[in-house]
Amino acid sequence: MKILVIGGGGREHAIIWKLAQSPKVSQIYCAPGNGGIAELAEIIPISAMDIPALVAFAQENSIDLAVVAPDDPLVAGAVDAFQSAGIKAFGPNKAAAIIEGSKSFSKELMKKYYIPTAAYEVFENSAAAIDYVRGNNQFPTVIKADGLALGKGVIIAQDLAEAEAAIRSILDDKVFGDAGARVVIEEFLTGQEVSVLAFTDGTTIRPMVSAQDHKRALDGDLGLNTGGMGTFSPSRVYTNELADECMEKIFRPTVEAMKSEGREFRGCLYFGLILTDNGPKVIEYNCRFGDPETQVVLPRLESDLVDIMLATVDGTLGEVDIKWNDNAAVCVVLASGGYPQSYETGYEISGLEDAEAAGAIVFHAGSKRVDGKLVTAGGRVLGVTAIGKDLDDAIAASYKAAEKISFKDMHYRRDIGVK
Ligand code: AMP
Ligand code: GLY
Repeated sequence: MKILVIGGGGREHAIIWKLAQSPKVSQIYCAPGNGGIAELAEIIPISAMDIPALVAFAQENSIDLAVVAPDDPLVAGAVDAFQSAGIKAFGPNKAAAIIEGSKSFSKELMKKYYIPTAAYEVFENSAAAIDYVRGNNQFPTVIKADGLALGKGVIIAQDLAEAEAAIRSILDDKVFGDAGARVVIEEFLTGQEVSVLAFTDGTTIRPMVSAQDHKRALDGDLGLNTGGMGTFSPSRVYTNELADECMEKIFRPTVEAMKSEGREFRGCLYFGLILTDNGPKVIEYNCRFGDPETQVVLPRLESDLVDIMLATVDGTLGEVDIKWNDNAAVCVVLASGGYPQSYETGYEISGLEDAEAAGAIVFHAGSKRVDGKLVTAGGRVLGVTAIGKDLDDAIAASYKAAEKISFKDMHYRRDIGVK
Protein backbone atom coordinates (compact mmCIF):
# COMPACT_ATOMS: atom_id res chain seq x y z
CA MET A 1 0.00 0.00 0.00
CA LYS A 2 1.00 3.58 -0.61
CA ILE A 3 0.05 5.88 2.23
CA LEU A 4 -0.02 9.68 2.35
CA VAL A 5 0.13 11.27 5.81
CA ILE A 6 -0.89 14.93 6.11
CA GLY A 7 0.89 17.03 8.75
CA GLY A 8 4.41 17.68 9.93
CA GLY A 9 4.84 17.43 13.70
CA GLY A 10 5.77 14.91 16.37
CA ARG A 11 2.34 13.33 16.15
CA GLU A 12 2.77 12.67 12.43
CA HIS A 13 6.28 11.31 13.02
CA ALA A 14 4.88 8.83 15.57
CA ILE A 15 2.05 7.79 13.23
CA ILE A 16 4.50 7.23 10.36
CA TRP A 17 6.96 5.37 12.63
CA LYS A 18 4.15 2.95 13.49
CA LEU A 19 2.73 2.66 9.95
CA ALA A 20 6.23 1.92 8.60
CA GLN A 21 6.33 -1.25 10.73
CA SER A 22 3.41 -2.75 8.80
CA PRO A 23 4.29 -5.39 6.20
CA LYS A 24 1.38 -4.04 4.14
CA VAL A 25 3.13 -0.72 3.49
CA SER A 26 5.38 -0.24 0.48
CA GLN A 27 5.75 3.54 0.50
CA ILE A 28 4.83 6.43 2.78
CA TYR A 29 4.61 10.05 1.69
CA CYS A 30 4.22 12.97 4.09
CA ALA A 31 3.06 16.52 3.34
CA PRO A 32 4.68 18.71 4.50
CA GLY A 33 6.66 16.49 6.94
CA ASN A 34 9.84 17.52 8.78
CA GLY A 35 13.52 16.64 9.08
CA GLY A 36 12.94 13.49 11.14
CA ILE A 37 9.99 12.21 9.13
CA ALA A 38 12.21 12.43 6.02
CA GLU A 39 14.01 9.30 7.19
CA LEU A 40 10.86 7.18 6.98
CA ALA A 41 8.77 8.88 4.32
CA GLU A 42 9.17 10.84 1.13
CA ILE A 43 8.57 14.48 1.97
CA ILE A 44 6.11 16.31 -0.29
CA PRO A 45 6.27 20.11 -0.10
CA ILE A 46 2.51 20.72 -0.02
CA SER A 47 0.92 22.56 2.91
CA ALA A 48 -1.51 20.57 5.07
CA MET A 49 -4.21 23.13 4.18
CA ASP A 50 -3.77 22.98 0.38
CA ILE A 51 -6.47 20.35 0.03
CA PRO A 52 -6.85 20.44 -3.80
CA ALA A 53 -3.07 19.94 -4.25
CA LEU A 54 -3.06 17.07 -1.72
CA VAL A 55 -5.92 15.32 -3.51
CA ALA A 56 -4.24 15.81 -6.91
CA PHE A 57 -0.99 14.37 -5.52
CA ALA A 58 -2.87 11.36 -4.14
CA GLN A 59 -4.57 10.72 -7.47
CA GLU A 60 -1.39 11.04 -9.51
CA ASN A 61 0.50 8.71 -7.18
CA SER A 62 -2.22 6.06 -6.70
CA ILE A 63 -2.38 6.55 -2.94
CA ASP A 64 -4.32 3.74 -1.21
CA LEU A 65 -4.90 5.53 2.10
CA ALA A 66 -4.63 9.18 3.13
CA VAL A 67 -4.25 9.86 6.86
CA VAL A 68 -5.28 13.40 7.81
CA ALA A 69 -3.71 14.11 11.21
CA PRO A 70 -4.10 17.85 12.09
CA ASP A 71 -7.32 19.60 13.13
CA ASP A 72 -7.41 22.40 10.53
CA PRO A 73 -7.61 20.28 7.36
CA LEU A 74 -10.09 17.91 9.05
CA VAL A 75 -12.35 20.80 10.06
CA ALA A 76 -11.96 22.25 6.53
CA GLY A 77 -13.20 19.00 4.93
CA ALA A 78 -10.01 17.28 3.71
CA VAL A 79 -11.45 13.79 4.27
CA ASP A 80 -14.56 14.66 2.24
CA ALA A 81 -12.31 15.87 -0.60
CA PHE A 82 -10.28 12.65 -0.67
CA GLN A 83 -13.43 10.54 -0.54
CA SER A 84 -15.05 12.46 -3.40
CA ALA A 85 -11.95 11.67 -5.45
CA GLY A 86 -12.34 7.96 -4.64
CA ILE A 87 -9.43 7.84 -2.17
CA LYS A 88 -9.78 6.19 1.22
CA ALA A 89 -9.05 8.64 3.99
CA PHE A 90 -8.64 8.15 7.74
CA GLY A 91 -10.24 10.86 9.85
CA PRO A 92 -13.69 12.34 10.43
CA ASN A 93 -15.48 14.15 7.62
CA LYS A 94 -16.27 17.84 7.95
CA ALA A 95 -19.69 17.24 9.52
CA ALA A 96 -18.10 15.16 12.31
CA ALA A 97 -14.93 17.23 12.77
CA ILE A 98 -17.14 20.05 14.09
CA ILE A 99 -16.90 18.28 17.47
CA GLU A 100 -13.51 20.02 17.74
CA GLY A 101 -14.15 22.85 15.27
CA SER A 102 -16.89 24.45 17.36
CA LYS A 103 -16.87 24.42 21.14
CA SER A 104 -20.45 25.72 21.24
CA PHE A 105 -21.46 22.73 19.10
CA SER A 106 -19.72 20.25 21.40
CA LYS A 107 -21.11 21.86 24.56
CA GLU A 108 -24.65 21.76 23.16
CA LEU A 109 -24.15 18.13 22.14
CA MET A 110 -23.08 17.23 25.68
CA LYS A 111 -26.02 19.09 27.21
CA LYS A 112 -28.54 17.46 24.86
CA TYR A 113 -27.22 13.94 25.49
CA TYR A 114 -26.44 14.32 29.23
CA ILE A 115 -22.68 13.85 28.85
CA PRO A 116 -20.89 15.25 31.95
CA THR A 117 -19.05 18.52 31.31
CA ALA A 118 -18.53 21.94 32.92
CA ALA A 119 -21.64 24.17 33.15
CA TYR A 120 -21.53 26.89 30.48
CA GLU A 121 -23.21 29.65 28.50
CA VAL A 122 -22.54 30.81 24.92
CA PHE A 123 -22.43 34.50 23.91
CA GLU A 124 -21.98 36.51 20.72
CA ASN A 125 -22.31 39.89 22.38
CA SER A 126 -19.55 41.14 24.68
CA ALA A 127 -21.79 43.27 26.91
CA ALA A 128 -24.09 40.30 27.56
CA ALA A 129 -21.11 38.02 28.22
CA ILE A 130 -19.58 40.48 30.71
CA ASP A 131 -22.94 40.96 32.47
CA TYR A 132 -23.16 37.19 32.84
CA VAL A 133 -19.68 36.88 34.34
CA ARG A 134 -20.36 39.80 36.71
CA GLY A 135 -23.68 38.33 37.86
CA ASN A 136 -22.25 34.84 38.21
CA ASN A 137 -19.33 36.24 40.23
CA GLN A 138 -17.36 32.99 40.37
CA PHE A 139 -13.62 33.00 39.77
CA PRO A 140 -11.59 31.62 38.20
CA THR A 141 -13.89 31.40 35.22
CA VAL A 142 -13.00 29.91 31.84
CA ILE A 143 -13.43 31.88 28.60
CA LYS A 144 -13.10 29.96 25.31
CA ALA A 145 -13.15 31.12 21.72
CA ASP A 146 -15.65 28.95 19.83
CA GLY A 147 -13.42 27.84 16.94
CA LEU A 148 -9.88 26.65 16.29
CA ALA A 149 -7.34 29.08 17.71
CA LEU A 150 -4.01 27.24 17.53
CA GLY A 151 -4.47 26.00 21.09
CA LYS A 152 -4.53 29.60 22.40
CA GLY A 153 -8.26 30.13 22.61
CA VAL A 154 -8.76 29.20 26.28
CA ILE A 155 -8.30 31.85 28.97
CA ILE A 156 -8.63 31.09 32.68
CA ALA A 157 -9.69 34.44 34.11
CA GLN A 158 -8.86 35.00 37.79
CA ASP A 159 -11.10 38.04 38.24
CA LEU A 160 -13.68 40.20 36.47
CA ALA A 161 -11.05 42.43 34.86
CA GLU A 162 -9.27 39.47 33.25
CA ALA A 163 -12.56 38.00 32.10
CA GLU A 164 -13.64 41.31 30.59
CA ALA A 165 -10.34 41.69 28.76
CA ALA A 166 -10.57 38.15 27.36
CA ILE A 167 -14.18 38.58 26.22
CA ARG A 168 -13.45 41.92 24.53
CA SER A 169 -10.34 40.65 22.79
CA ILE A 170 -12.19 37.64 21.38
CA LEU A 171 -15.60 39.13 20.51
CA ASP A 172 -14.76 42.79 19.79
CA ASP A 173 -11.10 42.87 18.74
CA LYS A 174 -11.42 39.49 16.95
CA VAL A 175 -7.90 38.38 17.96
CA PHE A 176 -8.79 34.87 16.77
CA GLY A 177 -10.68 36.08 13.68
CA ASP A 178 -13.85 34.15 12.86
CA ALA A 179 -12.91 31.52 15.45
CA GLY A 180 -14.00 34.14 17.96
CA ALA A 181 -17.47 34.87 16.60
CA ARG A 182 -18.81 33.31 19.80
CA VAL A 183 -17.39 32.64 23.25
CA VAL A 184 -18.17 29.81 25.61
CA ILE A 185 -18.01 30.79 29.28
CA GLU A 186 -17.46 27.81 31.51
CA GLU A 187 -17.38 26.80 35.13
CA PHE A 188 -13.77 26.18 36.30
CA LEU A 189 -13.21 22.53 37.18
CA THR A 190 -10.40 21.05 39.26
CA GLY A 191 -8.86 17.61 39.11
CA GLN A 192 -6.27 15.65 37.19
CA GLU A 193 -6.51 15.83 33.42
CA VAL A 194 -6.33 12.59 31.45
CA SER A 195 -6.35 12.17 27.68
CA VAL A 196 -8.02 9.14 26.18
CA LEU A 197 -7.80 8.71 22.42
CA ALA A 198 -10.17 6.22 20.84
CA PHE A 199 -10.53 4.62 17.44
CA THR A 200 -14.14 4.62 16.33
CA ASP A 201 -15.89 3.69 13.09
CA GLY A 202 -19.05 5.41 14.22
CA THR A 203 -20.40 2.34 16.03
CA THR A 204 -17.57 0.40 17.65
CA ILE A 205 -15.33 2.33 20.08
CA ARG A 206 -11.85 1.12 20.93
CA PRO A 207 -10.18 3.37 23.50
CA MET A 208 -6.40 3.46 23.41
CA VAL A 209 -4.22 3.34 26.53
CA SER A 210 -4.52 6.52 28.66
CA ALA A 211 -2.04 9.40 28.69
CA GLN A 212 -1.38 12.60 30.59
CA ASP A 213 0.07 15.78 29.23
CA HIS A 214 2.19 18.53 30.85
CA LYS A 215 0.95 21.74 29.30
CA ARG A 216 2.87 24.40 31.24
CA ALA A 217 6.33 25.50 30.14
CA LEU A 218 8.12 25.12 33.48
CA ASP A 219 8.61 22.50 36.18
CA GLY A 220 5.87 22.19 38.79
CA ASP A 221 3.22 23.19 36.21
CA LEU A 222 4.39 26.80 36.30
CA GLY A 223 4.87 29.21 33.41
CA LEU A 224 2.82 29.73 30.28
CA ASN A 225 0.56 27.23 28.57
CA THR A 226 2.24 25.43 25.66
CA GLY A 227 1.28 22.87 23.06
CA GLY A 228 2.63 20.26 25.52
CA MET A 229 6.07 19.87 27.14
CA GLY A 230 5.88 16.15 27.64
CA THR A 231 3.53 13.29 28.16
CA PHE A 232 3.33 9.84 29.67
CA SER A 233 1.25 6.68 29.43
CA PRO A 234 -0.50 5.18 31.29
CA SER A 235 -2.00 7.77 33.62
CA ARG A 236 -1.43 6.80 37.27
CA VAL A 237 -4.97 7.82 38.20
CA TYR A 238 -7.08 6.39 35.36
CA THR A 239 -8.14 3.05 36.84
CA ASN A 240 -10.07 0.25 35.11
CA GLU A 241 -13.18 1.31 37.06
CA LEU A 242 -12.83 4.85 35.75
CA ALA A 243 -12.32 3.51 32.23
CA ASP A 244 -15.60 1.57 32.52
CA GLU A 245 -17.39 4.61 33.89
CA CYS A 246 -16.06 6.78 31.03
CA MET A 247 -17.14 4.21 28.45
CA GLU A 248 -20.65 4.16 29.87
CA LYS A 249 -21.13 7.88 30.59
CA ILE A 250 -18.89 9.59 28.04
CA PHE A 251 -17.36 7.55 25.19
CA ARG A 252 -20.36 5.51 24.03
CA PRO A 253 -22.89 8.34 24.53
CA THR A 254 -20.68 10.69 22.49
CA VAL A 255 -20.28 8.33 19.54
CA GLU A 256 -24.02 7.53 19.61
CA ALA A 257 -24.90 11.22 19.88
CA MET A 258 -22.84 12.06 16.80
CA LYS A 259 -24.57 9.30 14.86
CA SER A 260 -28.01 10.50 15.99
CA GLU A 261 -27.12 14.00 14.82
CA GLY A 262 -26.29 12.66 11.34
CA ARG A 263 -22.59 13.31 11.97
CA GLU A 264 -21.18 9.79 12.28
CA PHE A 265 -17.59 10.07 13.50
CA ARG A 266 -14.96 7.78 11.95
CA GLY A 267 -11.35 8.24 12.94
CA CYS A 268 -9.54 9.03 16.17
CA LEU A 269 -11.71 10.80 18.74
CA TYR A 270 -9.78 12.43 21.58
CA PHE A 271 -11.48 12.79 24.95
CA GLY A 272 -9.86 15.44 27.14
CA LEU A 273 -11.13 14.47 30.60
CA ILE A 274 -10.89 16.02 34.02
CA LEU A 275 -11.35 13.76 37.03
CA THR A 276 -13.39 15.89 39.43
CA ASP A 277 -14.74 14.98 42.87
CA ASN A 278 -18.08 14.57 41.10
CA GLY A 279 -16.74 12.10 38.56
CA PRO A 280 -15.03 12.37 35.18
CA LYS A 281 -16.11 15.27 32.95
CA VAL A 282 -15.23 16.30 29.41
CA ILE A 283 -12.94 19.35 29.12
CA GLU A 284 -12.68 19.13 25.36
CA TYR A 285 -13.04 16.87 22.36
CA ASN A 286 -10.47 16.76 19.59
CA CYS A 287 -11.26 15.18 16.24
CA ARG A 288 -7.74 13.73 15.86
CA PHE A 289 -4.75 12.17 17.57
CA GLY A 290 -3.33 14.33 20.38
CA ASP A 291 0.09 15.86 20.20
CA PRO A 292 2.26 14.88 22.11
CA GLU A 293 0.05 12.05 23.50
CA THR A 294 0.43 10.05 20.28
CA GLN A 295 4.20 9.83 20.92
CA VAL A 296 3.57 7.71 24.05
CA VAL A 297 0.41 5.90 23.02
CA LEU A 298 1.43 4.42 19.65
CA PRO A 299 4.72 2.95 20.95
CA ARG A 300 2.54 0.80 23.24
CA LEU A 301 0.41 -0.52 20.35
CA GLU A 302 1.24 -4.12 19.43
CA SER A 303 -1.21 -4.48 16.52
CA ASP A 304 -0.82 -3.29 12.94
CA LEU A 305 -1.96 0.35 12.68
CA VAL A 306 -2.78 -0.05 8.99
CA ASP A 307 -5.35 -2.78 9.77
CA ILE A 308 -6.93 -0.59 12.46
CA MET A 309 -7.09 2.47 10.23
CA LEU A 310 -8.61 0.56 7.31
CA ALA A 311 -11.23 -1.02 9.59
CA THR A 312 -12.04 2.42 11.02
CA VAL A 313 -12.58 3.80 7.52
CA ASP A 314 -14.54 0.74 6.32
CA GLY A 315 -16.77 0.45 9.40
CA THR A 316 -15.44 -2.97 10.44
CA LEU A 317 -13.57 -2.00 13.62
CA GLY A 318 -15.62 -4.55 15.59
CA GLU A 319 -13.77 -7.35 13.74
CA VAL A 320 -10.27 -6.16 14.63
CA ASP A 321 -8.39 -7.30 17.69
CA ILE A 322 -6.31 -4.41 19.11
CA LYS A 323 -3.48 -5.28 21.48
CA TRP A 324 -1.51 -2.95 23.76
CA ASN A 325 1.52 -3.83 25.83
CA ASP A 326 1.78 -3.34 29.59
CA ASN A 327 4.87 -1.16 29.40
CA ALA A 328 4.93 2.53 30.23
CA ALA A 329 6.13 5.28 27.90
CA VAL A 330 7.41 8.79 28.63
CA CYS A 331 8.05 11.57 26.12
CA VAL A 332 10.17 14.58 27.10
CA VAL A 333 9.83 17.52 24.72
CA LEU A 334 13.01 19.45 23.92
CA ALA A 335 11.96 23.01 23.11
CA SER A 336 13.62 26.13 21.77
CA GLY A 337 14.60 28.70 24.44
CA GLY A 338 11.80 31.28 24.71
CA TYR A 339 9.01 28.94 23.60
CA PRO A 340 5.98 29.39 23.79
CA GLN A 341 6.82 33.06 23.23
CA SER A 342 9.41 34.22 20.70
CA TYR A 343 12.38 31.99 19.93
CA GLU A 344 15.13 31.59 17.34
CA THR A 345 15.43 28.65 14.95
CA GLY A 346 18.12 27.29 12.64
CA TYR A 347 20.41 25.94 15.38
CA GLU A 348 22.23 22.69 14.67
CA ILE A 349 20.99 19.66 16.61
CA SER A 350 23.57 17.15 17.87
CA GLY A 351 23.56 13.90 19.81
CA LEU A 352 20.58 12.20 18.17
CA GLU A 353 22.46 8.97 17.43
CA ASP A 354 23.64 8.80 21.05
CA ALA A 355 20.08 9.29 22.30
CA GLU A 356 18.82 6.56 20.01
CA ALA A 357 21.70 4.29 21.03
CA ALA A 358 20.55 4.85 24.64
CA GLY A 359 17.27 3.20 23.62
CA ALA A 360 15.01 6.18 22.95
CA ILE A 361 12.81 6.90 19.96
CA VAL A 362 13.30 10.53 18.96
CA PHE A 363 10.21 12.00 17.30
CA HIS A 364 10.76 15.28 15.50
CA ALA A 365 8.27 18.11 15.98
CA GLY A 366 10.16 21.08 14.51
CA SER A 367 13.34 20.20 12.66
CA LYS A 368 14.58 20.40 9.11
CA ARG A 369 17.60 19.43 7.06
CA VAL A 370 19.69 22.24 5.65
CA ASP A 371 22.78 21.28 3.61
CA GLY A 372 22.75 17.84 5.16
CA LYS A 373 22.65 19.24 8.73
CA LEU A 374 19.68 18.82 11.03
CA VAL A 375 18.59 22.18 12.49
CA THR A 376 15.81 23.46 14.75
CA ALA A 377 12.72 24.75 12.93
CA GLY A 378 10.03 25.22 15.58
CA GLY A 379 9.18 25.92 19.21
CA ARG A 380 8.89 22.28 20.13
CA VAL A 381 11.81 20.60 18.40
CA LEU A 382 12.04 16.96 19.49
CA GLY A 383 10.10 14.48 21.60
CA VAL A 384 12.38 11.97 23.29
CA THR A 385 10.30 8.88 24.01
CA ALA A 386 11.43 5.90 26.04
CA ILE A 387 9.66 2.73 27.02
CA GLY A 388 10.12 1.08 30.42
CA LYS A 389 8.54 -1.68 32.44
CA ASP A 390 6.86 1.02 34.55
CA LEU A 391 6.70 4.83 34.59
CA ASP A 392 9.75 5.30 36.82
CA ASP A 393 11.79 3.15 34.48
CA ALA A 394 10.57 5.02 31.41
CA ILE A 395 11.20 8.42 33.06
CA ALA A 396 14.81 7.47 33.83
CA ALA A 397 15.37 6.15 30.31
CA SER A 398 13.92 9.17 28.53
CA TYR A 399 15.98 11.66 30.60
CA LYS A 400 19.11 9.61 30.08
CA ALA A 401 18.56 9.87 26.33
CA ALA A 402 17.47 13.53 26.40
CA GLU A 403 20.75 14.51 28.10
CA LYS A 404 22.67 13.30 25.05
CA ILE A 405 20.98 15.82 22.77
CA SER A 406 21.88 19.47 22.50
CA PHE A 407 21.15 22.60 20.52
CA LYS A 408 21.60 26.26 21.42
CA ASP A 409 19.16 27.48 24.13
CA MET A 410 17.54 24.04 24.41
CA HIS A 411 14.95 23.90 27.19
CA TYR A 412 13.03 21.00 28.73
CA ARG A 413 11.12 20.17 31.87
CA ARG A 414 12.74 17.88 34.45
CA ASP A 415 9.52 16.56 35.98
CA ILE A 416 7.70 14.83 33.13
CA GLY A 417 5.78 11.79 34.37
CA VAL A 418 5.75 12.71 38.04
CA LYS A 419 2.18 13.90 38.59
P1 AMP B 1 -8.13 23.30 25.66
O1 AMP B 1 -7.45 24.27 24.72
O2 AMP B 1 -9.60 23.18 25.48
O3 AMP B 1 -7.35 22.01 25.72
O4 AMP B 1 -7.93 23.92 27.11
C1 AMP B 1 -6.66 24.18 27.56
C2 AMP B 1 -6.56 23.88 29.02
O5 AMP B 1 -7.36 24.77 29.76
C3 AMP B 1 -7.05 22.51 29.42
O6 AMP B 1 -6.12 21.49 29.21
C4 AMP B 1 -7.31 22.73 30.89
O7 AMP B 1 -6.11 22.65 31.62
C5 AMP B 1 -7.82 24.14 30.93
N1 AMP B 1 -9.29 24.15 30.97
C6 AMP B 1 -10.14 24.17 29.93
N2 AMP B 1 -11.41 24.17 30.36
C7 AMP B 1 -11.37 24.16 31.71
C8 AMP B 1 -12.36 24.15 32.74
N3 AMP B 1 -13.68 24.20 32.48
N4 AMP B 1 -11.93 24.11 34.01
C9 AMP B 1 -10.61 24.10 34.31
N5 AMP B 1 -9.64 24.12 33.38
C10 AMP B 1 -10.00 24.13 32.10
N1 GLY C 1 -2.21 17.52 23.67
C1 GLY C 1 -3.38 18.25 23.40
C2 GLY C 1 -3.83 18.25 22.01
O1 GLY C 1 -3.40 17.50 21.17
O2 GLY C 1 -4.69 19.05 21.69
